[in-house]
Amino acid sequence: MSELVHFPKFSELSGDLKSCIPLHQREYLVNGELKTWNGAVQEVYSPVYFKSSEDSYDNRIGSYPIMGEKESLEVLDAAVQAFDNGKGEWPKMSVSGRIDCMRNFAAELKKRRSEIVNLMMWEIGKNRKDSEGEVDRTVDYILDSIEALKELDRNSSRFTIAQGVIAQVRRAPLGVALCMGPFNYPLNETFATLIPALIMGCTVVFKPPKLGVLLHHPTLEAFRKSFPKGVVNTVYGRGRDVTTPIMRSGLIDVLAFIGTSPVADTLKKEHPKPHRLRCLLGLEAKNPAIILPDADLSVAVNECVEGALSYNGQRCTALKIIFVHESITAEFLELFNRKISSLKCGMPWDDGVNITPLPEPHKTEYLDSLVKDAISKGAKVINEGGGRFDKSFFYPAVLYPVNQTMKAYHEEQFGPVIPVLSFKNISEPLEYIENSNYGQQASIFGNDSDLLSSLLDTLVNQVCRVNLNSKCQRGPDVLPFTGRKDSAEGTLSVSDALRGFSIRTLVAVKETDLNKQIISDILKDRKSTFLNTDFIL
Ligand code: G3H
Repeated sequence: MSELVHFPKFSELSGDLKSCIPLHQREYLVNGELKTWNGAVQEVYSPVYFKSSEDSYDNRIGSYPIMGEKESLEVLDAAVQAFDNGKGEWPKMSVSGRIDCMRNFAAELKKRRSEIVNLMMWEIGKNRKDSEGEVDRTVDYILDSIEALKELDRNSSRFTIAQGVIAQVRRAPLGVALCMGPFNYPLNETFATLIPALIMGCTVVFKPPKLGVLLHHPTLEAFRKSFPKGVVNTVYGRGRDVTTPIMRSGLIDVLAFIGTSPVADTLKKEHPKPHRLRCLLGLEAKNPAIILPDADLSVAVNECVEGALSYNGQRCTALKIIFVHESITAEFLELFNRKISSLKCGMPWDDGVNITPLPEPHKTEYLDSLVKDAISKGAKVINEGGGRFDKSFFYPAVLYPVNQTMKAYHEEQFGPVIPVLSFKNISEPLEYIENSNYGQQASIFGNDSDLLSSLLDTLVNQVCRVNLNSKCQRGPDVLPFTGRKDSAEGTLSVSDALRGFSIRTLVAVKETDLNKQIISDILKDRKSTFLNTDFIL
């Protein structure tokens, strides 16, 4: 049998890829200090196996601290002290002061781009183009958050006078945030909550995802240099040892978590005063594509392949099930399979590579079990070579015809298995969406504006973004990103996230001469950071 994918010899790799591993991280950031960890560590294994000798492979690329309850509470304490019930330097700092710190951080992050990209490729197998895109998108997100905060601040720089009351309304930080991102966007989706939390004046404990820890190492010194002590703190280790005690303390005001709903539910339940806890959650999804009879097939095929297989289907927004009208199913599948066969398989750093090894342990076995389950219930793998796997690499499998009895119909595969169904009546995919536990997005492909408008009017009440003739996706980041049912809580976007970590607070006075004089004095001499009419340029 031909080699499915070429796992390289270590000696074949370029210098910068070789020199960035092994990385044995022993530092964690607490109270403005990079402390050295002397306890137990977690070995890090790459999805990329490399030949260490003729017939043996290795994939160990480093290690990081496994902290315990004591250290995680020490980290939490640093964040609590830095917020100091709103009296801390950071929550009391002027908006322009916080913006300056954030700008410095963005510049520091940019300097570390190639280091982060190399570690991202090693740790989670994301291809070079997408890894670079993730860092650049994160820097842009920081700069856009700065602009959005300026806008928010400008809109709040006026006073309101109503019924004899003068008031200034602004947004104030909620307190201490715990931020946790997922492995598939370890940098971007951790920062998608961490950055707005910080810029609004919260202090933060952040825990990198289980896979994708080392790539955060270069950011630790950048955080240390850019923010006052205790504003950003990190924890590493098993959830039950680190995040459980942090949540149980009751000292977390905002939980920002992107991952699975069972983990989110467990974390929320640990908080002793749930009504005090605000949550921003990005959870599972199983977004469908619906291909109508009059769809432009080349557009539908290209978008569906990209939607189902970019980063090997490991995106919450990936197209995870495809419904094709029966009149065009044969043609669609032929073109779809042809397109998949043109995708390049290889290592994350190979030029133009699309399909790469998967980082989650035992993922290929899980995907294989989905394929076997579907086959046992009447489906076939209809693309050449579909479902072959070797170590961490899994060649995309197109399953057809899929039905409700199969796991692939219900489970979020989060990988390169693509269930396809043929439908006669539009009620079939709609029924799937109505019965699904998820409600993030959907894609519809077609040309008939009458049918499309009636469909989208139905779907907007089931999901939170309907994509016409294009794949599902989160970006551009200025658009709201959320979901119904088990898919999300709260909304992320550059401007929505700023609101998620803050609360409207106002200063109000009765319109008397004395009060007017006090307000004038405060404004004239710029005595308050909250009460002011500054217009940030
Ligand atoms: O994993 C879920 C991500 O939020 C998807 O983001 O659509 O930009 O790939 P994306």
